[in-house]
Parts: sequence; C-alpha cells; structure tokens
Amino acid sequence: MIRIHDKQFVPFLSASQIDSAIARMAQEIADDIDEEVPIFIGVLNGSFMFVSDFMKHYNRPCELSFIKLSSYQGTSTTEKVNELIGLGVNVENRTVIILEDIIDTGNTLVVLNDLFKDKKVKNLKVATLFFKPEAYKKDLPIDYIGIEIPHKFIVGYGLDYDEHGRNLPEVYQLKE
Ligand code: IMP
Ligand code: MG
Repeated sequence: MIRIHDKQFVPFLSASQIDSAIARMAQEIADDIDEEVPIFIGVLNGSFMFVSDFMKHYNRPCELSFIKLSSYQGTSTTEKVNELIGLGVNVENRTVIILEDIIDTGNTLVVLNDLFKDKKVKNLKVATLFFKPEAYKKDLPIDYIGIEIPHKFIVGYGLDYDEHGRNLPEVYQLKE
C-alpha cells in the first residue's frame, strides 16, 4: 500500500501488464494503417509515459505532437476542460490518432473531437490506455482501448492525484 497526500492506494496494474496492453495496441494500430504516416497526438500531462512506451512499440513511420488540456481537480472530474497548449501542427488531410492516458466521463474526448472538427483531417481516431466503461457518458466511438478498468480513481504511470504519483511505473487504485 502507498500513501499520496491524504489518501491510500493499493497496487492495481503491474508495469508488465501495462506494457503488454500497449504492445497490443501498437500492433493493432500498425495493422490498421496502410501506407499512411499517422500523426499521433499525445494529450498532456497524463499521457506522457504512455506515449513514450507506445512509440517504442510502434514500428512504422509516424509523427508525434502533443496537446495540453486540463479537467481534473483532486479525485473528481470537472465539467470544464481548458486548452493550455494548442496543436502546433498542420493536420489537414492526415490521419490523426489521439493518444489518451484514460477516458473517464468522456468530457475531454468531446473537447478534443470538437477541436479537430474544422481541421479537415482525413481520419480521426482515438486510442486510450485506460477506459472506465461505467463512467463513460458520451456516444463518441473509442477506436483502441488498452485496459478497461472499474469506476475507481487510479494513480501512477503518468496519472496523478493532485499532481503527485505520475512517476510511479505501475498503477495504484484508491483504497475504499
Ligand atoms: P474525462 O474528461 O472525465 O474523460 O477525464 C479525462 C481526464 O481526467 C484524463 O485524461 C485524466 O487526465 C483525468 N482522469 C480521469 N480518471 C482519472 C483517474 O482515475 N486518475 C487520474 N486521472 C484521471
Ligand atoms: Mg489526460
């Protein structure tokens, strides 16, 4: 068990479980892409570790950029999502694949989707390492999912609890 700020967390997913899921996702995506060079868009901050490991497993030509949004405060989601670093790349007529650390309510995903609406992308896809099906309230399709998890707060592997815990190489779940 570990303690972060005022809360206790228990081990939930090991580094090797996470790595296997990412290797599978990278293979799935590589298999779906023909001769195209996709632009992966990592969503900061949470996805930095996922993006790094994903890129090591993705063995075809690709480009990478990041966007920074923020929506979470503490352990509960907020309706408001802010864009802190915009997209600094031309995505017109390109295949864009969003790399998210986790999809919870789907609010962030809707904002991301709106952001690409007027950008004339050829193809927009979404890949998320973690997905909470019980929390998801939107209808937008999610193309690639690493691991489905229960509707409980997690920390580690890039995900934070009030900015702490991102450096943990494995994932911990909030203790009841
Ligand atoms: P959504 O907008 O509710 O789908 O939340 C998406 C964002 O909230 C993610 O990109 C994370 O940054 C953050 N988030 C959602 N669930 C968790 C969690 O269990 N732990 C840490 N951060 C989370
Ligand atoms: Mg995120």
